[in-house]
Amino acid sequence: MASENKAWKKRWRDGNIGFHQEKVNALLVEHWPKLVADTSSSVLVPLCGKSLDMLWLRQRGHRVVGVELSELAARAFFAENGLNVTETLRDSFLLLEHDGIEIWVGDFFALTSNHIGTVSSWYDRAAVVALAPDRRSAYAGQVGSLLSANAQALMLTFDYPADERDGPPFSVSLDEVRSHFEPLFTVKSLDCIDLTDGNRWELSRVWKPVIHLIR
Ligand SMILES: C[S@@+](CC[C@H](N)C(=O)[O-])C[C@H]1O[C@@H](n2cnc3c(N)ncnc32)[C@H](O)[C@@H]1O
Repeated sequence: MASENKAWKKRWRDGNIGFHQEKVNALLVEHWPKLVADTSSSVLVPLCGKSLDMLWLRQRGHRVVGVELSELAARAFFAENGLNVTETLRDSFLLLEHDGIEIWVGDFFALTSNHIGTVSSWYDRAAVVALAPDRRSAYAGQVGSLLSANAQALMLTFDYPADERDGPPFSVSLDEVRSHFEPLFTVKSLDCIDLTDGNRWELSRVWKPVIHLIR
């Protein structure tokens, strides 16, 4: 676990961040408004990197609660978007914030409701697929412990033949999501997009399941 955390921080130092998208995720824009009507609610974004999706969520009105191991990534998010930050030390976390966007710099698995208060929605893009198989059940339990009743979530994963490539991103199928997240959540498939043609990893099949989870 400690070695995985070190590896992520090193990836940020080395600029090895092919997962980062220069645009807001189109599937977030398409699906989120249908799932989360209350735009004043708080959104948990675990393993957030410097994702621009946080800006989009904030622009809709949400309070955004990102969590990220790499201080470099968190600082880059605010700096690259021209946002100055206030900084607070909270237990093992450094909290960086600007006008309704918080990034808790530290290990997601150490975060508690006492830190972040009530959170009723959750966005997972490149989070569960960043975790090795033996950490995914703990991730489900951790998310479950942080979200309020009736929470809604949008999750985007990858589903490919796991023997063709080492992660991250790992293959996490809809069935595997069900195996970790039920019965804490109801898991519904919204879509499954075929990304096989021209995929950069030359996998024989790549799908992107688009998943709705309800607490
Ligand atoms: C694949 S990246 C995805 C980032 C972001 N969700 C996005 O869409 O660009 C995974 C991120 O999770 C962070 N991370 C990995 N393990 C973590 C942990 N235990 N706690 C907090 N962040 C973690 C990594 O530093 C990395 O920035």
